[in-house]
Amino acid sequence: MSSEHPEEIVEYERADGADRDGIVEEDNPIPLWFNVTFAATIVFGVIYIPYYVLTDWSSRGQWEAEVAAAQAQIEQVRAELPTTNPFRGDATAIAEGKGLWDTTCAACHKPDGTGLVGPSVVDPYWKYGDDDPALFETVSAGRPLGMPPWGTQLGATKIWKTLAYMETLPKTDEPGIGSPDHQPAAAIP
Ligand code: HEC
Repeated sequence: MSSEHPEEIVEYERADGADRDGIVEEDNPIPLWFNVTFAATIVFGVIYIPYYVLTDWSSRGQWEAEVAAAQAQIEQVRAELPTTNPFRGDATAIAEGKGLWDTTCAACHKPDGTGLVGPSVVDPYWKYGDDDPALFETVSAGRPLGMPPWGTQLGATKIWKTLAYMETLPKTDEPGIGSPDHQPAAAIP
């Protein structure tokens, strides 16, 4: 067979070691840099994987730490909030509060507070309470049935001033528009 097809024999004879169509394979040792890099990845993995898995060092851990810090900050801000309206009876603040009421609240609660889209705030019916912390919470954080949160836009000072003005609106026992459905929360299914 070899004598009949001499050109095929050349393919199987490694006369020069390994020359294939001019591409030469040499038996060089693996370069040091390659072995060092390879070993380094193993060393890195042995350190990194347990560190990542067993400690909370990860983007998730960092996120949780940031959320916890923000939460603590919120608690602190809440703890420092006044529990009574600091502007009650303060004529200048009430005048400023009227401006805020007319521009931000009157559209829904009517300028006289008797209610339109939002309920009356001058009748004796309070769904969320009318003590200062409850009112502040209502205006600052909003309420689910359509009361927007004003905390970021107004800030605490302007909220208190608006409430100081709201208190001065003439009271009425007439349930305003929205008030029948706006009795104590327990009465609403
Ligand atoms: C977009 C319309 C809208 C605007 C603007 C608005 N409110 Fe309201 N407000 C509502 C609605 C609707 C409710 C009822 C929410 C509920 O029952 O969950 C409400 C509820 C309230 C309550 C709670 C009443 C209760 O019985 O507990 C107070 C207090 C209040 N608003 C004050 C304000 C003040 C102060 C402003 C301006 C800073 C304001 N609102 C702006 C729609 C509005």
